Amino acid sequence: MSGVAIPYSRPHRSGREATLVAQALAGDHWRGDGPFTAQASALVSAAVGGGKVLLTTSCTHALEMSALLLGVGPGDEVIVPSFTFVSTASAFALRGARIVFADVDPRTLGLDPAEVARKASPRTRAVVVVHYAGVAADVDAIAAAAPGAAVVEDNAHGLFASWRGRPLGSLGQLATQSFHDTKNLGCGEGGALVINDRALDERAEIIREKGTNRARFFRGQVDKYTWVDLGSSYLPSDLLAAVLVAQLEAAPAIQAARHQVWRRYHAELAGWAAHHGVQQPHVPVGAEHAAHIYWLRVATLATRQRMIAHLAAAGIQATFHYQPLHLSEVGRKAGGRDGDCPVSEQVADTLVRLPLYADLGDADVERVIAAVTAFGA
Ligand SMILES: Cc1ncc(COP(=O)(O)O)c(C=O)c1O
Repeated sequence: MSGVAIPYSRPHRSGREATLVAQALAGDHWRGDGPFTAQASALVSAAVGGGKVLLTTSCTHALEMSALLLGVGPGDEVIVPSFTFVSTASAFALRGARIVFADVDPRTLGLDPAEVARKASPRTRAVVVVHYAGVAADVDAIAAAAPGAAVVEDNAHGLFASWRGRPLGSLGQLATQSFHDTKNLGCGEGGALVINDRALDERAEIIREKGTNRARFFRGQVDKYTWVDLGSSYLPSDLLAAVLVAQLEAAPAIQAARHQVWRRYHAELAGWAAHHGVQQPHVPVGAEHAAHIYWLRVATLATRQRMIAHLAAAGIQATFHYQPLHLSEVGRKAGGRDGDCPVSEQVADTLVRLPLYADLGDADVERVIAAVTAFGA
């Protein structure tokens, strides 16, 4: 079949994006930190438990800000899962830290606390936790496994999810969000830094404003602004923040629709999965997930490739996900070897993600389910 009838992901349009962008364009504050940035930051803060939220140009940039804020540098080690996006690691490598790759839990695919305990050392400055697919990693156990290290939640997948009643994004000293258009809601490219350790608030503003105390100047706390620290330009335009406000307003409807698709896959693929020995997502007791990804794990790489091809032939775009970072070019140069993180290596070869977006209608969900269950994994 030519063309993809059901893509892996599609941004949802709430209908208010164009109206709010037109409002932003009608005003004169197109740069960062205007009224829409304030509104979006407040909405994100409410969703992540009240920490200070600074919108950024991406989750990658929020991670880079985290590395600067924590003063990570040469001689420091930062533990990250091997099964994650490049930025989780590269943001800290940029500051000269040694990246220590740890394996993930085979059921949740989030960072395994036992691995953190094994890999922690007196040089561990930070542990970066990824809540894969918006399912909480056990942050409490991870923090206990690396006492003295800062915990940063790379919460790119986990907005609106929670762990033991606390929102993801509120559990680390810092957390980072993504508003890339493949995420549950977004503004094309965008992100946020969540600061839960109030001692870091003011420096975070400085780092985001090119290393200047501009925010203090605008609040009237100093009579001129100047270069006071390291920093860069990490703030998005208020025009993009207007798109994000429209999306955040629609978040309850977006989340409800995504959860509906996730639940249907989970229930209606259970028999097929059990019959073929295919693993479905596991949501631990105490976790409320974000319905960000619906994944399946088949037995081998060859089966996974056949399954993706089978679904593509039915017009359905299913995709694999991260390749293990310890085996990337950079990871190998840093000493990564085959077998270092066996779960990450296996998951990279055997995971398939099914289409999941708010506007995936019932008929399309049925089409995906029918195509999956027609596959003899
Ligand atoms: C876990 C994780 N962290 C960070 C990122 C980077 O996000 P952004 O594109 O907003 O920089 C991604 C992107 O998909 C991701 O999956």
